[in-house]
Amino acid sequence: MSFETINIRDTAHPVKLIADDWALLSAGRRVAAHTSRAELASLENQRHASNSCEESYHWNTMTISWGGVGEMWGRDVAFVFVRPQRYTYQFMQQQDYFTLAFGLPKETLALCGKISGRDGDKIAQAGLTPQVEGDAIFPAQADLVLVCRKLHAQDIDSTGFVDPRIADYYDGDHHRMYIGEIVQCLRKTA
Ligand SMILES: Cc1cc2nc3c(=O)[nH]c(=O)nc-3n(C[C@H](O)[C@H](O)[C@H](O)COP(=O)(O)O)c2cc1C
Repeated sequence: MSFETINIRDTAHPVKLIADDWALLSAGRRVAAHTSRAELASLENQRHASNSCEESYHWNTMTISWGGVGEMWGRDVAFVFVRPQRYTYQFMQQQDYFTLAFGLPKETLALCGKISGRDGDKIAQAGLTPQVEGDAIFPAQADLVLVCRKLHAQDIDSTGFVDPRIADYYDGDHHRMYIGEIVQCLRKTA
């Protein structure tokens, strides 16, 4: 699939994109083509190092509807919230970049928001294939992609809850907030 770079300001409203339409949050990397099975096995979950004789990828994706887009530290940023039990969490921790992908069918998003990549190959089940552009990895089936470089990561802290009802959302699994600089906004051309 080919993508062109567009201006983030020419996209739909972020509340519609994230809260209403939902997104796939992805992180991971391409693994060298000559990577041996033993090396792949040393990655913490070989099943998700999908590979062919040409290329291999070690990545995961999950559905999100909480997050936003705005400005921080003088840069365009996206912020997302990931609970520690998500398989995607460890990819978010390991990688310098993450992506937000939009325009996927709701069935695909529902599947990736229900099944954990830790428990099964939901990426294949959802019919998704990885595309790498520079440092970013995202599902090739997306229409629009925000490529983000991690700037800041911090756990939501219950001592900061002003409205006590927020505590009802947690059972010791506070989200980690990631703020990433939006370094590229990609739109599918074909
Ligand atoms: C509409 C929707 C929105 C979601 N938003 C988030 C979110 O913002 N943060 C989060 O940690 N989990 C969120 N989830 C839950 C994860 O997508 C879900 O637990 C997923 O299976 C995790 O996959 P993983 O274990 O492969 O990372 C959402 C699920 C759905 C269906």
